[in-house]
Amino acid sequence: MNRTLVIVKPDAVERGLVGEILGRLERKGLRLVAAQLRHLDPDIARRHYAEHVGREYFEALVAFITRSPVVVAVVEGPDDTWRLVRQLMGATNPVDASPGTIRGDLAVVMAENLIHGSDSPDAARREIGIFFPELA
Ligand code: PPS
Repeated sequence: MNRTLVIVKPDAVERGLVGEILGRLERKGLRLVAAQLRHLDPDIARRHYAEHVGREYFEALVAFITRSPVVVAVVEGPDDTWRLVRQLMGATNPVDASPGTIRGDLAVVMAENLIHGSDSPDAARREIGIFFPELA
């Protein structure tokens, strides 16, 4: 089995979309193996988004992801589960996200795009290690 990290972002929790979003992953056939409502501090947010240090939106991204609680979760499925999750999420910018995807159906702007999913097997390993070291 194959695991990936998902973060249901502050905008989704604030809008009451946690069940909708995790439900879509479950209905697809993926299984939750860990989930925690958690208010991230800036240190862990900076570790998680380390590859984006220096981008013009980096500080805005850290401020956004730490503004209110998120749900961090580990999702399990077959090979390439990270890719299945990314397909369900839709494009990073909701303007480009297809109808039927989480962002395509439920989001309107990049800065509030509801969900994060690891973008490779290596990223999944690294990110699960940050939030759920006991599963690493
Ligand atoms: S991706 O999907 O990783 O290739 O997307 P990328 O464009 O590299 O963006 C990386 C993360 O930064 C977020 N992002 C932004 N947040 C706020 N404002 C702006 N302008 C912006 N541009 C990109 C984007 O949602 C990605 O976050 P995650 O949590 O990985 O989806």
